[in-house]
Amino acid sequence: MISFDQKDHLLRLARAVQENAHAPYSKFRVGAAILLENGEIFTGCNVENASYGLTNCAERSAIFTAVSKLGSANVKIKAVAVVNDHDAACSPCGACRQVIAEFGPHAVVWYQGRNGIVENTMSNLLPDCFSL
Ligand code: THU
Repeated sequence: MISFDQKDHLLRLARAVQENAHAPYSKFRVGAAILLENGEIFTGCNVENASYGLTNCAERSAIFTAVSKLGSANVKIKAVAVVNDHDAACSPCGACRQVIAEFGPHAVVWYQGRNGIVENTMSNLLPDCFSL
């Protein structure tokens, strides 16, 4: 089980890292925080590029940071929290869902909008995901 305090902590960290977003094109800043099975937390923001397609989403930034630091064997995602500076309850995009599923097929996902926090699961967000 994930406690209310852990969830609140993740959302706060996501909110903080959102400030670091490089989003001059969309003007849509996103922050994400991931909680691993080992208790560690990693954060990431969206990093856009003048060549728009090279943009990296916040969720993937957080996951790639965790893998770079710990190695993939130690990255088992328990929960993901995502926020943005428009207070829109945006769930992770399709590409991010596939990447989250690689490391946390049963992770809980929270995304915060102005009407509160939406809770979902990866099994629900990406059923029958691609795997090799
Ligand atoms: N974005 C994310 O960071 N995460 C998502 O799941 C979807 C979208 C970013 C990408 C881009 O910088 C901005 O939001 C607008 O699409």
